[in-house]
Amino acid sequence: MMRKLIIAGNWKLNKTSREAIEFVTLLKRELCDISGVDIIVCPPATALSDVQDVLTDSNIALGAQNVYWEDEGAFTGEVSAPLLKDIGVQYVIIGHSERRQYFGETDETVNKRLAAALKHGLTPIVCVGENLTEREKGRTFEVLEKQCRGGLDGLEADEVEKIIIAYEPVWAIGTGKTATAQQAQEAHKFIRDLLAEMYNDDTAQTVRIQYGGSVKPENSAQLMSQPDIDGALVGGASLKAETFTEIIKNSCTAAQ
Ligand code: PGA
Repeated sequence: MMRKLIIAGNWKLNKTSREAIEFVTLLKRELCDISGVDIIVCPPATALSDVQDVLTDSNIALGAQNVYWEDEGAFTGEVSAPLLKDIGVQYVIIGHSERRQYFGETDETVNKRLAAALKHGLTPIVCVGENLTEREKGRTFEVLEKQCRGGLDGLEADEVEKIIIAYEPVWAIGTGKTATAQQAQEAHKFIRDLLAEMYNDDTAQTVRIQYGGSVKPENSAQLMSQPDIDGALVGGASLKAETFTEIIKNSCTAAQ
């Protein structure tokens, strides 16, 4: 099965609205000819609406970096799926390792956010990945299995087919240390085989699995040409038009 590559830029806590508008205006021009790869940008919440205004009728979709599981009510500081939908958001990153590390995210809260996103028609990008100690102790697959089973708990196969999984080894995020294409492929294959076991072969073959962790123009083509790598979640290199554009163009070549 041919899965379309999907490249998302995770801006994290970067760019004012004004910087975001300038940046996506440029990206839109640079990337207007690309159709072989799905492209997403995930600005901070404050810039979502302004970025959406620029991206209307473009080939670049909008994603948020988190979502709360309740729709509305007395939940100071949170943003819900209906509110994201309301301003044109289509994707949402869930369970990024920084949220797990600094904001108490667990597989249970990932699962609740995931259900809320799906209920309201947002496409979740669910992040999983082992840290350095876990990798060194040979526990990578065990960690991935726990995160996938816990995060996806209770979902039906047809719901799982709508999600995107991002394999992001924590030791590769923001460190400049990328997993080798072989290490990444091995983890992606493990996740896909696990999905086949949890659901069925068709579902496993449908789900797109992105790689994330120090993806750069120099390593993107090799990563994207692996059979089970279906795109990238890019942090640092998504903040500059030049590097993000190059990653997308390299991926298009790899996909041919
Ligand atoms: P990085 O971040 O590309 O800066 O390593 C990736 C991510 O955290 O999604």
